[in-house]
Amino acid sequence: MSKLSIQLNPIDVAEWRRHREFSEAYPEGARPKRIVVSPNDPIQNIVKPDWQYMFKLSDEKYPEQFWAELIAYQVGLLLGIDVPPAHAAFDSMTGECGSLSEWFYAPGEEVFYAAGYFFYKEIKNFDRDKGTQHNLLTAQQLNVRFMGEDQIYDFWSMLLFDTIIGNTDRHQDNWGYMMTSLPHTKSVARRKGEQYGIRLKFAPWFDNGTSLGYQILPRKFSQWDQVRIDNFIKKGTHHFRWAPDNLSQVGHLESIEFIAKHNSKVRSLLMRRAKRFDVERFSDVMRTLVDLPMPPHARLSAERANFVIRLTSRRMELIMEKLNAHH
Ligand SMILES: Nc1ncnc2c1ncn2[C@@H]1O[C@H](COP(=O)(O)OP(=O)(O)O)[C@@H](O)[C@H]1O
Ligand SMILES: [Mg+2]
Repeated sequence: MSKLSIQLNPIDVAEWRRHREFSEAYPEGARPKRIVVSPNDPIQNIVKPDWQYMFKLSDEKYPEQFWAELIAYQVGLLLGIDVPPAHAAFDSMTGECGSLSEWFYAPGEEVFYAAGYFFYKEIKNFDRDKGTQHNLLTAQQLNVRFMGEDQIYDFWSMLLFDTIIGNTDRHQDNWGYMMTSLPHTKSVARRKGEQYGIRLKFAPWFDNGTSLGYQILPRKFSQWDQVRIDNFIKKGTHHFRWAPDNLSQVGHLESIEFIAKHNSKVRSLLMRRAKRFDVERFSDVMRTLVDLPMPPHARLSAERANFVIRLTSRRMELIMEKLNAHH
C-alpha cells in the first residue's frame, strides 16, 4: 500500500469551493451528492489540489453505506484495479458525512461517455430505467469495436473486482469510456488531413458502493453464520445480463466459472490478479478505516469491519475454487 493512498484523518469540505453548476445537488444517480472543488493548497497530501470531487452521502436508510465506496477503493488498490480514489469526508458546516470521490478526468480536456450512451443506440427500446437489456455480449461487442481484443482482460478484471466486493449495481451508466484526442504525427496528420485522432479507453470503475453487504444492518451481524454468508454470496449477481436473447442476470460466481471454462488466458491472468489480494493487508486497511476519527455517528464500526472482512475472505475462497476448477 503506498503511503499516499490511505488517509489518517477525514477531510472537511466545509471550506472547499462549490461547483458553479452542481454545488447544491447533482441530478444524476440515486444518492444525494454534490460536486466540490479542492483548495489550491490542501492540508492532506492525498487530496489533489484545485480538483473536482463528488461528495456522496449515504442513503438515509443505510447511514454506513458510504464506507462501502471507500473500502471498494482500497480493494481496488490491493488488486491493481483502476478505481477513482475515494476518501472519508464530512462538512463541518452542515454535519453531512460521506465519501469523496476524485474526478477521473479534467472536464473540458477529456470526455466521458457512459456505456449507456452506446447501449441506447445499439438496442432498440432499451429500458433506461432498469437497464434490463444491459448485457455482456453487447458490452463485449462494443469494447472490441472501440478498443480491439486486448481490452477483454481489463473488462474481466472489473467483473472479478465486482465479484470480490459483491457489487450488484454496475448498470450501463456506472461504467463507460474516456474519449481522448491524441495529436497525430505530422505524416499521419498530412495523410488523414486531421490534426488529432480519437482514442477510447475504459474509464476508471466508479460508483462501487452498492456492495460489501452495505444493506445488512449492524444489529444483525451476530446472526450471520457460515451457511448464511455462503448463501448470500452464492445468490449475488452482477447487473449485467448474459446476452440480448438471454436476459437472465449473471451470477457473481457464475461469471468467474464462465471465464475459467471458456478462456484459459483470461483465467490465468485473473488468477494472478486475485492472488495479489492479501487478506492480512486488507484487514490492516480495515483497521485503519475503523480508527478514522469521523464524527461519532458516522464512524465505521469494528463490527461492520469484521463482517466485511469475513464476507470478502469467503468470496475470495469461492472465487479461487472457481478459477482452479478448470485448470
Ligand atoms: N469520480 C468521478 N469522476 C467523474 N465522474 C463521476 C465521479 N463520480 C461520479 N461521477 C459522475 O456522477 C454520476 C453519479 O455518480 P455515482 O457515483 O454513479 O452516484 P450514484 O450512486 O447516485 O449513482 C456518475 O454516473 C458519473 O457520471
Ligand atoms: Mg451511479
